[in-house]
Amino acid sequence: MASSEISITMQGFGRFIYEGLKASGIHVVTRVPIQMDVEVIPAILVKSRKELLAHIEKVKPSVTAVHIDIMDNDFVPNNTIGLDGLTDLPSGISYEFHWMVKDPENWLLKVPGKHINLVHVETIYERKQIERMRAFGGKIGLAINPPTPVEKLYPYINDEGIEQVLIMAVNPGFSGQKYIVEVESKIRALREKFPKLQIEVDGGINPETSERASEAGANILAASSAIFMAESIPDSIKNIYDSGIRGRDKWQTCLLEKTVTESGIPKLITEPPKQTLLPLSPSVGVGAIKITDIKKLYLLSNSIRQNIVKMLHEAKSGHPAGSMGLADVFAALYFNVLNHDPKNPIWEGRDRFVLSNGHVCPGLYATMAEAGYFPKEELMTLRKLGSRLQGHPHRESLPGIESSSGPLGQGLSIAVGMALVAKREKKGWRVYCVCSDGEHNEGQIWEAALLASKFKLGNLVAIMDRNLIQIDGFTEDVLPLEPLEEKYRAFGWNVISIDGHNIQQIISACNEAKAVFDKPTMIIAHTIPGKDISFMEFITEWHGKSPGDKEAITALEDLEQERKFYGNET
Ligand code: DX5
Ligand code: ZN
Repeated sequence: MASSEISITMQGFGRFIYEGLKASGIHVVTRVPIQMDVEVIPAILVKSRKELLAHIEKVKPSVTAVHIDIMDNDFVPNNTIGLDGLTDLPSGISYEFHWMVKDPENWLLKVPGKHINLVHVETIYERKQIERMRAFGGKIGLAINPPTPVEKLYPYINDEGIEQVLIMAVNPGFSGQKYIVEVESKIRALREKFPKLQIEVDGGINPETSERASEAGANILAASSAIFMAESIPDSIKNIYDSGIRGRDKWQTCLLEKTVTESGIPKLITEPPKQTLLPLSPSVGVGAIKITDIKKLYLLSNSIRQNIVKMLHEAKSGHPAGSMGLADVFAALYFNVLNHDPKNPIWEGRDRFVLSNGHVCPGLYATMAEAGYFPKEELMTLRKLGSRLQGHPHRESLPGIESSSGPLGQGLSIAVGMALVAKREKKGWRVYCVCSDGEHNEGQIWEAALLASKFKLGNLVAIMDRNLIQIDGFTEDVLPLEPLEEKYRAFGWNVISIDGHNIQQIISACNEAKAVFDKPTMIIAHTIPGKDISFMEFITEWHGKSPGDKEAITALEDLEQERKFYGNET
């Protein structure tokens, strides 16, 4: 069998696994992380060739490359130097052209040459364009705007040989804007996935932000105002470089990742759980389930995923991507966070749980069956005539379903109503609502958000499944939602962003919310649609289609491999 790789975080549980592999005599090879150098590139945003040449002269003694911003007043609301100014540039320095234009192919063909062309992924409409643009002579890199999901870059890096990306840390158009910290999650994701990728950051870079950007994993720092407005250009370049190096060093010491080669575990697992015991909640209700062993919780979410596959395969319809993506959230809620009693679903003291995006109910049903609300065999009746497990949850049919759902955007309002009752009647129970990012296209969600804040519903926790997709494609393409954190904060909510597959983080965020009495909490759970199924992750067509025979087998094999990672059930 060909050996394959798993990437293990050498912290917490990951370290135990690494040591465990070694101790069990398995051949373990560790590799030292790649050495990352830092480069500062002055960004030139000017309107005439004369200014361009003057700027190049100013920085030429201090750098080996410059970045030229080109705008068309269409893709961005500003105009810069036109094509004429870009030919016959001074030699002895290399160039990267940052094309903030609607139709880059058309522009590139007029300035052929060996420079790097950084083209916005938002302006690419078919993959073949990359090859066509390469034919003009230069290297092609891809730029990405702050609201665009980083996953949009992956197919180009994986399949089209893209070696350089430009992460915009401002919305493009002007220099002198404020660095958007949130883009660092993109840098981190890219660096983790593609260790050799050239990651450039552009916008708001100065000696402070360059340290953070490099610490996140960026290795090229493009800066305009911090260089050209400085008293001494060489000093400012050096300052940005030095702090970039400090960031790089921090990144390297933080990078406690090692690559382990081992035969027999062919699944890439990027984030193993931390083996931490969680404190028991003091307000445990009658029959409440409190599993505090994180490994057991991961085994449960794996069982939930396996049952989702089996149910959808049997039903020949349903929604797998969102159900898979939420399995860790469901496991954390039903086996640790919620006070509930499967043997007495109408126990008055129970926490109320509302699933707003009802179409992911296979995940909820599988979780409820694990918890003992009904026999697991019943799962196979999903979507069948007369079944209690309909394609969207029905309160009157299945005890334990708190609210029927299906029409999107309504669950948060229902949850607000419940939380209001609990608050007015001074009840101790809390309300949890899982909703999706796509649902945020509905105005009703925002009305509910306003109301929850008006009534200071500290007993309400919403968990948004931020998986970036909806039925028609990527959420940021259909109706851009970002910046979501800021929006919810502006609406008066307490906001916590987490990795929605890290059960420890899910539980901690829910516990943290308990300490906020005067605001509702929105937990933005970043998840992967189709999580753990190799052919399903991030593929929008799996939003609402069931796996066929062969696909179900592959999916279950994938999940079995994942399960091995967590060891035995006991
Ligand atoms: C923004 C441009 C940037 C900009 C950087 O649209 O792509 O290159 O000029 O300017 P500062 O460094 O001032 O944010
Ligand atoms: Zn630029």
